[in-house]
Amino acid sequence: MKQQSLPTINRRDFMKVSAVAGAGLLMPTIIRSQTPASSSDDLNIALLGTGAQGQVLMDSMLKIPNIRFKAVCDIWTEYNRKRAAGILKRYGHKLNQYEDYREMLAKEKDLDAVIIATPDFWHARHTIACLEAGLHVYCEKEMSNNLADARKMVLAAKRTGKLLQIGHQRRSNPRYRHCYSKLLQEANLLGRITTINAQWNRAVQPDLGWPQKYTVPTSRLKKYDFDSMEQFRNWRWYKGLGGGAIVDLGSHQIDIFSWFLNAQPVSVVATGGTDYYEKQTHEWYDTVMCFYEYQTNDGPVRAFYQTITTNSSQGYFENFMGDQGTLNISESAGRGGIYREPSAPDWQKWVDMGYLDAPKEQKTAQPGVVLDVRETVAPPKHELPIVLNDPYHKPHLENFFNAVRGKEALNCPAEVGYETAVAVLKVNEAVATGKKLMFSNDEFKI
Ligand SMILES: NC(=O)c1ccc[n+]([C@@H]2O[C@H](COP(=O)([O-])OP(=O)(O)OC[C@H]3O[C@@H](n4cnc5c(N)ncnc54)[C@H](O)[C@@H]3O)[C@@H](O)[C@H]2O)c1
Repeated sequence: MKQQSLPTINRRDFMKVSAVAGAGLLMPTIIRSQTPASSSDDLNIALLGTGAQGQVLMDSMLKIPNIRFKAVCDIWTEYNRKRAAGILKRYGHKLNQYEDYREMLAKEKDLDAVIIATPDFWHARHTIACLEAGLHVYCEKEMSNNLADARKMVLAAKRTGKLLQIGHQRRSNPRYRHCYSKLLQEANLLGRITTINAQWNRAVQPDLGWPQKYTVPTSRLKKYDFDSMEQFRNWRWYKGLGGGAIVDLGSHQIDIFSWFLNAQPVSVVATGGTDYYEKQTHEWYDTVMCFYEYQTNDGPVRAFYQTITTNSSQGYFENFMGDQGTLNISESAGRGGIYREPSAPDWQKWVDMGYLDAPKEQKTAQPGVVLDVRETVAPPKHELPIVLNDPYHKPHLENFFNAVRGKEALNCPAEVGYETAVAVLKVNEAVATGKKLMFSNDEFKI
């Protein structure tokens, strides 16, 4: 049969492919054809916490070759655990089911790693036990609801020599990685970054309920430190269990501030409150607005962040603003772009190199309409050439598995997760005190 010639690939397409491949995002079919049925790349894993996020992670992991689920563990045995185990079995995984993580660790002797997606206040106990059992751990953010426990997690990873990845998944997102390494570090397209503006606005949501026939017995709830079924379902709003909206949503984006600026904040001032929901069921604030100050090598940066849970206007994004440009980025698929300030040097070189798309044709004003001299014309938008077509968490999980195999470094090791926890948890403290709080350099170190 006549061999078909291979399609030619231009520089820009090459950039796209290489960025995707670099983040471990080769098409599964390509990977499969290169991987033998059983290989040294095989990893045996357990999923600890099979709730909403545990199932999202499971869905991503089912798309990653060479991952064998050996166990699932969850205290909601009759509902979340049953559902997750059922799906995994349908995909051909032979696994055991546990209610108590200690029993799982005692009985499962050929695990390589555990993926933890339990409520934040359980992370330290679960992570430390797994690390001490000789296993690598991927633990969801927030690393912990308190810094003392987060610190113990970092120390446990150091002590055991095992890997601990924290689930700030944007750190492995090829679109974010392209912005950091190419647009900011290499091309310095924003010039001197002076300000950041970011938000996560979410619409009103009722408290989470549950099918009555699957109510967890009170004795089991108490055994695992929950007071009631209501609290078990809505743990993120309770003091001592979660951290409210700023921790749940804000931590993802405040993590990006430090990453992109190569700096930790020096101060934070914040306002917030439980303005809309019942205070009894929303102990943590439903509305938070805060300002961070950073001192970078290029000078001071002021960052505004808000998270509100009563209106979804504009959704979620991060806006980095410099004297030469603005980067708008969001995990939300397809959203974002980069805008050149009128006085900035020409960006054609970077367009030619495939770092950003050519600007879209700009609409200035209606023909015949003369702009008032005070009006500023919006700068032209350049689309970002890298798009993540996979589920959001897949690259971060792949990075973790490749690190376990010794092929990559972790993109969000415990120390980085800890730094983010320091920056984020201080916001709730700033709201409570109503004062501007300072960070010392030592605070971010273990
Ligand atoms: N990275 C992200 O984008 C992202 C998104 C959502 C949630 N999360 C994080 O994932 C984690 C889980 O959040 P969720 O929304 O899935 O919560 P959830 O309440 O839906 O699920 C938690 C699960 O853990 C189980 N559980 C509770 N205590 C347990 C224990 N001691 N042992 C075993 N199982 C236990 C519960 O039965 C439940 O099935 C949290 O840390 C959250 O911050 C991350």
